[in-house]
Amino acid sequence: MPRYEDAEWRDSMRIRFDYTNMLADAVGKNRGTTEDELDQMEFRLSAGLDVLRRRRGPKDLAWMDLPYQQETVEEVLAYAREVDGVFDDILVLGIGGSALGVTALKTALLPLGSDYLSPERRRRPRLFVLDNVDPDWVMPTLQMLDPERTLCIVITKSGNTVETMAQFLIARAWLREKLGDAAACHLVAITDPARGALREIAEREGYRTFAIPPGVGGRFSVLSPVGLVPAALVGIDIRELLAGAAYADQLCSVRALRRNPAAMNAALQHLAYPRGQRISVMMPYSQHLRDIADWFRQLWAESLGKQMSTLGKRVNLGPTPVLALGTTDQHSQIQLYMEGPPDKIINFVAVERFAEEGPIPAADPGEEEIAYLGGHTLAELINVEREATAIALTKAGRPNCTHIFPEVNAFTVGQFLYMLEMQTAIAALFFAVDAYDQPGVEAGKNAAYALLGRPGYEEQAVEIRSAEAARPRKIV
Ligand code: PA5
Repeated sequence: MPRYEDAEWRDSMRIRFDYTNMLADAVGKNRGTTEDELDQMEFRLSAGLDVLRRRRGPKDLAWMDLPYQQETVEEVLAYAREVDGVFDDILVLGIGGSALGVTALKTALLPLGSDYLSPERRRRPRLFVLDNVDPDWVMPTLQMLDPERTLCIVITKSGNTVETMAQFLIARAWLREKLGDAAACHLVAITDPARGALREIAEREGYRTFAIPPGVGGRFSVLSPVGLVPAALVGIDIRELLAGAAYADQLCSVRALRRNPAAMNAALQHLAYPRGQRISVMMPYSQHLRDIADWFRQLWAESLGKQMSTLGKRVNLGPTPVLALGTTDQHSQIQLYMEGPPDKIINFVAVERFAEEGPIPAADPGEEEIAYLGGHTLAELINVEREATAIALTKAGRPNCTHIFPEVNAFTVGQFLYMLEMQTAIAALFFAVDAYDQPGVEAGKNAAYALLGRPGYEEQAVEIRSAEAARPRKIV
C-alpha cells in the first residue's frame, strides 16, 4: 500500500501555517490584524467557498479537480513506461505557467544538482526547462544535447505563444537535421485539446500529445499534464503528488477561517493591503523549495494584479509578490525588510526534517570564535536562523508568518501547490478581482505579434510604430 493511503501518515505530513506574528498582539495595532477583523472575514469566506463550489468543474474552474484525474495519470504513467531508457535528456520548451511549475517540481523533488551526475549515478534523464528566448541560452543548450537521445516537450496552453513557438521551430529543425522524419518521435506537445497552432502541427506530424483541460489556465496548470508528464519522465511520484493536492483540497474547503490555512493567509494578506502592506515576500529556508516561491510569484501576480474589479470598477490593485531565499537573502534583503518601508509581509517556509542533517565538525583547538558551532548541524542552523529572523522582524513590527513542512516530499509539495492555488483563488474573491484572466499579458503578446509581422496584427503594428515615431528616444 502506498504510504499516502495511510491516514495517519497523511496527517503527519500536514503543512501547518503559523500566523501568530501577523496579529496586532505581536506586531502592534497599526501593523497587525486583530481577532475582530478575522471574525469579520468568516462570512466572506463562507460566501467565497460557495462561489468556488458552484464554479468548480470541467466547464469553469477545472484546476480544482486536477488532484482526481485518474485517467490522465494512467495515460502519463503508461507513456513514461513506454519511453523508459530511450532518452538521456528531456528538454521542456514553454514559458510562464507552462514552465514555472515544471521547474518548481524539478527543484523540489529531484536531488539538487543531480543533472551534473553521470547517467549511471543519476539513473534518470536530465531535465532542462528553457523558459526564455535568449539565444545565448537556447543555442548552447541544444549544442550540448544529442538529438538522438533527447525528447523535446513543447508546452503551451494557447498553442501560439511567440517565445514557445519560436523555440519549437528551432528545436524541430535541430531534430530534423539529425533524425529526418524520425524527429516526430522526439517531440511531445502539451496543449489545448482542440485549438492553437501547436495542436494542429502535432496532429499533422503525429507527435505524442497530452491535453491541458479547458478551464485550466496556465498558472493553475502545474498538476495537469503540464507538470505531470515531465515529472513522471524523471521519476517523480505523480500519484503521491496528487494525493498531497487532494489532501490540501480537504484542508482548504473547511468553512472555519481559523482551521483553513489557505483562507487564513488569503484573509491576512487582504486585511494587510489597506494598511499599506502590499508586498508579499515568500522566503523558503530550503533550497528545494526556492522555485515554488518563483512559481507562486506568477500565480499571485497574474491572478491578483488587475485594473478592473469584478464589479466593473477601476481599481488597479494587486499585492506584489517577491521571492527571497533563507538564509542566503538574510545577507541581501533582510536589512530592507527590517528597517525599510513597513510595506511587506514575510511568508517564511520552514522544513522540520531535512533529508540530510549536515553535522558540523568540532573546530580545532585555539579556534574559540567558531567553537560554538561544533556538534550542531546545518539543519539546526538553517532553522535557528529562520526563527531568529522571525523574532527580530516581529520585534521591529514587521508582520510575518510561517508555512511549516514536516519534510519535503511529493505529498507535501503537491499539498503546498494546491494550497497556494486555493489561497490565490480565495484572495481574488476577497479582493473582488478575476483570478483567471490576464489582459495585461495578452496586451504584451499582441504587441509582439504586431512587431513581428503576424497576419491580422497589421493595424496594431502601424499604431505602435507611429506612436513610437512621435516620441523620439531620449538616450544618453
Ligand atoms: O497564466 C497564464 O495564463 C500565462 O502566464 C501563460 O502561462 C503564459 O503566458 C504562457 O502561455 P501559453 O501556455 O499559452 O504558452
